[in-house]
Amino acid sequence: MKVCIVGASGKLGRYMVSHALERGYEVVGVCREKSVGKLSSFGDRITIVPGPTNDRRVIEKAVSGCDGVLSVLVPWGVHNYSSGTAQAVLDFAPHHARLVFSCGWHITRDGQDVYSRSLKWLLKVAGWVARLIRVVDIDDQVEACRRVFESDRRWTVVRGSDLEEGESQGLPVWSRHVGDAVLKSNITRRVDFALFMVDALKNDELVHQAPAIVGCQTPSALARHVTA
Ligand SMILES: NC(=O)c1ccc[n+]([C@@H]2O[C@H](COP(=O)([O-])OP(=O)(O)OC[C@H]3O[C@@H](n4cnc5c(N)ncnc54)[C@H](OP(=O)(O)O)[C@@H]3O)[C@@H](O)[C@H]2O)c1
Repeated sequence: MKVCIVGASGKLGRYMVSHALERGYEVVGVCREKSVGKLSSFGDRITIVPGPTNDRRVIEKAVSGCDGVLSVLVPWGVHNYSSGTAQAVLDFAPHHARLVFSCGWHITRDGQDVYSRSLKWLLKVAGWVARLIRVVDIDDQVEACRRVFESDRRWTVVRGSDLEEGESQGLPVWSRHVGDAVLKSNITRRVDFALFMVDALKNDELVHQAPAIVGCQTPSALARHVTA
């Protein structure tokens, strides 16, 4: 299995590289030129294609011959970084490839997610301020996911809860909709978010799904056994 990890140098990306290597996969990582050093601990066990992740030529080269592509969608800047990245992956990944994208709970596929009032306010205010100072464009991450949802590729969009660092607790549990009781704890270890992304490559149940995840050892995840 050959996998490309787009955004490999970030925190989520590096965890995904580790999980993929542990499974014996051949790994190609894409990251900004200035971040190549962040992958030095992997030595020659991975191939790095440096460049902006929304550069179509960079992605075309990196995904060539891959069976899976794991993409970290981040809404940096105001020049379509997320949507450009997603579009390039959709356009250039080999047809048989499993495509797995990361985002947050704020992305909704079918409008059936139920958000707390505080999250709605936070997104509104943070999104507005970030766009004003031209650092982040959350709407572009929304657009990126819209393009993925509409595509006929074999995609999965993994929607992360709040994240924390720490030892792995195991594969997160998931639900189709934010607001479902199992997700109430709203916390996942970042290392396990990465585990879910890598695991999704071989989980056909997740094709054309947008699972919202939460840590498997959180109170709301554990309570599902009691209430089931
Ligand atoms: N943080 C959270 O609480 C949270 C919650 C839910 C879901 N998520 C999702 O989880 C995923 C990873 O998020 P994360 O917060 O954990 O971050 P992360 O893994 O550290 O990833 C950040 C990524 O953004 C890149 N980046 C940073 N500054 C940039 C810039 N100015 N221009 C272009 N790229 C830049 C980084 O590349 P370099 O290495 O080159 O800097 C890295 O690939 C995202 O899809 C996010 O939506 C995050």
